[in-house]
Amino acid sequence: MTSFTLNGKPVQLDAEPEMPLLWAIRDLLGLTGTKYGCGQGLCGACTVHVDGQAQRSCVTPLSAIAGKAVTTIEGLSAAGDHPVQQAWIQNNVPQCGYCQPGQIMSASALLANNPNPTDSDIDSAMSGNLCRCGTYGRIRIAIQDAASRLNNNNSAAPYAAFQENLGG
Ligand code: FES
Ligand code: FES
Repeated sequence: MTSFTLNGKPVQLDAEPEMPLLWAIRDLLGLTGTKYGCGQGLCGACTVHVDGQAQRSCVTPLSAIAGKAVTTIEGLSAAGDHPVQQAWIQNNVPQCGYCQPGQIMSASALLANNPNPTDSDIDSAMSGNLCRCGTYGRIRIAIQDAASRLNNNNSAAPYAAFQENLGG
């Protein structure tokens, strides 16, 4: 039996301790916002927060999260209006959308640890999150936008202020 907190609620799972957290989240607990991409810790589609840090759930066994707090994209905010989610919408980040829950979870963990990231900080923190649609430029802009929202009491940042960052 593995006990942990999922999106603020206590969970007890009677499953093999080696089971990847991703399988437990999707197949046992029915939260399918967290995506399967590579299953090898290489693409970031399965990113969740464990005790506030971005972690690849496909290579995290249940035994490693006993007693810890896990947050998935469904639990990032009750109404889906976390500043990162607002910035994603404002800047039309997703294309097919498949990688985006993982991108958002990595971005929100970055901003929780570093409220004023440079482009270099963003590139470093997000380098493990792959996007086959190539939305990297909009992701960087949206993270700058979200940082501005977080640092300015959640007010929307003007999109134009980030146009100069489009080159990345
Ligand atoms: S599915 Fe976990 S890193 Fe790709
Ligand atoms: S939006 Fe399609 S893979 Fe990233």
